[in-house]
This record gives sequence, structure tokens and C-alpha cells, in this order.
Amino acid sequence: MMSKTKYSFLNGFEFKSGLKVKNRIVIPPMTEASGFEDGSITSDELRYFKIHSGGVGLFISPVANVSENGKGFEGELSITDDRFLPGLTKMASAMKQNGTKAVLQIFHAGRMSNSKILRGEQTVSASAVAAERPNAETPRELTNDEIEQIITDFGEATRRAIEAGFDGIELHGANTYLLQQFFSPHSNRRTDKWGGSVEKRMTFALEVIKTCHTMVEKYADRPFLIGYRLSQKRLKIPEFEWRIHCNLLTHCAISQSITYTSRWATLGELH
Ligand SMILES: Cc1cc2nc3c(=O)[nH]c(=O)nc-3n(C[C@H](O)[C@H](O)[C@H](O)COP(=O)(O)O)c2cc1C
Repeated sequence: MMSKTKYSFLNGFEFKSGLKVKNRIVIPPMTEASGFEDGSITSDELRYFKIHSGGVGLFISPVANVSENGKGFEGELSITDDRFLPGLTKMASAMKQNGTKAVLQIFHAGRMSNSKILRGEQTVSASAVAAERPNAETPRELTNDEIEQIITDFGEATRRAIEAGFDGIELHGANTYLLQQFFSPHSNRRTDKWGGSVEKRMTFALEVIKTCHTMVEKYADRPFLIGYRLSQKRLKIPEFEWRIHCNLLTHCAISQSITYTSRWATLGELH
């Protein structure tokens, strides 16, 4: 007897950018820490992507760092330079078997790194405040020029993702990395345009989104997704600030055709 159950997650979905996925099953970003020391991809990791792609509609990659001092852990992928393009191109192709769409997750780890991973360099963040975790190192406060450079780095990473053949990027705005460090009043004590009120603490994220969007307009000749991963975890903010955070990003999503994802969202809830 035929089952009458309807599985809507097996239906296709079209994002605002025009990107179509064949079903609503997503592999979330999961770092395997299998990259080479310099952040280039290994054949082991390519094999992992080939094995897992094909069935799902969307495959989000492990996170890759956009700036040299944004590396968060050993074995992490890097998208800091054009020399990584050949490996990233193989990666996009491996993730795109049988119609699966491939999204590259990008980030800057900020204070969630350490001087060992950064080979002697001090970590950086919005302010010189250590994370509340065992053995956390105190970061150096970023200068205005350095902040502008990191925003440019996010833009350059987006261009490389387009050139490598990915179908989109996801900005890692969760898990207490730099985008979230600028938003959280615990890690952001600045009094310039990058800190202070909840709106000002959002400036960094909004500038990053704007720059990535500009790069997509300039370089993408196909539908290309910009996603944003959110998480309320460990933000240490009142509920109303979280709502403003979501509202501003939603506004941004509508005005700039950006699709944003929360940790628990399914594709059906995104539009
Ligand atoms: C080994 C491992 C690596 C992960 N790497 C990433 C990552 O690179 N980026 C990210 O946003 N989340 C990462 N996550 C979080 C997952 O995407 C997911 O949110 C988390 O596992 C919670 O989902 P679950 O409740 O279904 O396990 C990772 C999780 C695991 C277990």
C-alpha cells in the first residue's frame, strides 16, 4: 500500500537570490580539522566531501578563515589568498555531486584563538577582554584600520568563493567568533563607531554583509547565496537586544536579498 504521508522537506526550495535546491535537507557546517598546516585542502577532506554530497539539497562547508590572524584552530581551511583557489575549486566540485548546492562558511575567530595557533601572534578582538573560558588569552583591541581590513578580507573571501565555483557563502555570526564578539557587550567595550549601543555593536556585521553583497553584485554571474549564522548562545545580552539583532539582520536580508539562517532554522522557515 502506498504511504499517504507527504514529506515537504523533500520538496525543492528557491532562495531570494534565485538559487534553487532540490530538497530542504542541509548538511550543517562541521569542521573535520583535516586541512594542511597552511589551510590548504587535503585529499582526505576532498574524499569526505565526495562521500557525503549528492543526496542533500545544500551542503555547508566547514568554516574557513578570511584573515591570517582569524585562524581559530589547527587543520582549519583558509581562504585568505588566491593561492588557495585551485584547492577550493576542487572542494566546490566535490561538494556539488549530483545537484547538491555548496556553500562555503567563512569567519574570523577573533579572541577564540590563541598565540600558539597564530604562531606567536597575540589574538585580536573588538576589545582587549579575554573570553570566559579556561586558559583564554587576552586579545589585543583592533584598530579602526584593522577592522576595515578584516571587512575587506570578508569581501575578498566572497570573491574567491565565487571564483572557486561555490553557490554561496555563509557568514559565521555564531559560536562567539569575531562577528559575535563585536555584537556582544562582554567582548565589545568600544566607544567609537564600532561599539556602544546595540545598533553600533551591529555596525561590523552590517558592514561585512554590505561588502560581501557588493562583491556578489560585481563578480557573480549566477545566483549566489549570502547566509548568516546566528546564535543567542553565550551572547550575554537582554532579550530585547537579541530581538533588535534579529530584526536588523532581517531588515538587511530583505533590503539586500540576503538569506539568513538561525541554528535551528530549516529552509522552509527562511523566506
Ligand atoms: C565536529 C563538529 C564540527 C563543527 N564545526 C562547525 C563549523 O565549522 N561551523 C559551524 O557553524 N558549526 C560547526 N559545528 C556545529 C554544527 O554545525 C551544529 O550546529 C551542532 O553540531 C549542533 O547540531 P546538533 O544539535 O544537530 O548536533 C560543528 C559541530 C561539530 C560536532
